[in-house]
Amino acid sequence: MDYKIAVIPGDGIGPEIVREACKVLDRIGERFGHRFHYTEVLMGGVSIDKTGVPLTDEALAAAKASDSVLLGAVGGDVGKSNWYKLPPNLRPEAGLLAIRKGLELFCNLRPAVLFPQLKQACPLKDEIIGGGFDFVVVRELTGGVYFGERKTVTENGVRRAVDTMPYDENEIRRIAKWAFEVAMKRGKRVTSVDKANVLDTSRLWRQVVKETAEEYPEVELCDMLVDNCAMQMVRDPKQFDVVLTENMFGDILSDEASMVTGSIGMLASASLGATKLGLYEPSHGSAPDIAGQNKANPIATILSAAMMLRYSFDLTKEADCIEAAVNSVLDAGWRTVDIMSGGYSLIGTKEMGDRIAERI
Ligand code: IPM
Ligand code: MG
Repeated sequence: MDYKIAVIPGDGIGPEIVREACKVLDRIGERFGHRFHYTEVLMGGVSIDKTGVPLTDEALAAAKASDSVLLGAVGGDVGKSNWYKLPPNLRPEAGLLAIRKGLELFCNLRPAVLFPQLKQACPLKDEIIGGGFDFVVVRELTGGVYFGERKTVTENGVRRAVDTMPYDENEIRRIAKWAFEVAMKRGKRVTSVDKANVLDTSRLWRQVVKETAEEYPEVELCDMLVDNCAMQMVRDPKQFDVVLTENMFGDILSDEASMVTGSIGMLASASLGATKLGLYEPSHGSAPDIAGQNKANPIATILSAAMMLRYSFDLTKEADCIEAAVNSVLDAGWRTVDIMSGGYSLIGTKEMGDRIAERI
């Protein structure tokens, strides 16, 4: 089969890690008889430098015209880069929000997996880690406070800012369905996270999730307040299977989830909508401090490409093959600097990509 992939290298380490993911995809193509056609698309700081905006209409159209999108990372050093002197709607991150909204990618899947080979990188105690953990955060991605009305005004000489957090029941229902569908393919447990003791949006969230749960009698649903959830994630991460939550809570909890695995350089993510077109990107950022030094870990991007094969192209065998290759490289003791510890062999971005590709 032929597949059209819009590739967005973006900023910082983005270009280097995306290059390795494409290398691995090309090997998959050779081995399984597929052809991946890449179209490079500008987004983020690199787009600002070339076009003045973080995502042009043409770039969005090119992404829409593809079968799927592979993204490195966008953004720079907030303290140093001139991009952050621009108004907020012209900064690199605005491109990311615009593509999520423009492609209607309302469902963000962020797996948090403890790789047994990297157990020593996990900041939690052995008795908490036990046999390891593997859960996924299902984050609503196109609603809530990220996209609600906002303004900054000065009233009677006092500066005032307002952000609003709207949700309607349809937005809640469609993401809840995703969470239950994902749970059906995993451990059949959904923890729905909200702040229903304070927020109206959370009270509606809770009701609609409960209604949706009736369609999935096999799935066990429990509600959890977001502050408690933040605590439970470090107290006992094994209790989670699917964590369903709204946009901002999901932003915060997914960073926490990745940290408890100890290996943020390993975690993939997928942003999906009503069609097969998805956007796949590593959970980590653009790491401008190590950009261009062949130090970044490309595994999160490579595993994101595997998620693309699985969710957008239904190429399960091929996705399994990439995941097995990553595990085999870890078993063989190869490490990039972020996951390095004593007794293992340090390699760079390119060498990690080569070793994974040669195991396909
Ligand atoms: C993420 C990032 C983005 C978000 C930023 C860069 C706008 O933190 O993907 O988690 O908040 O969604
Ligand atoms: Mg975030």
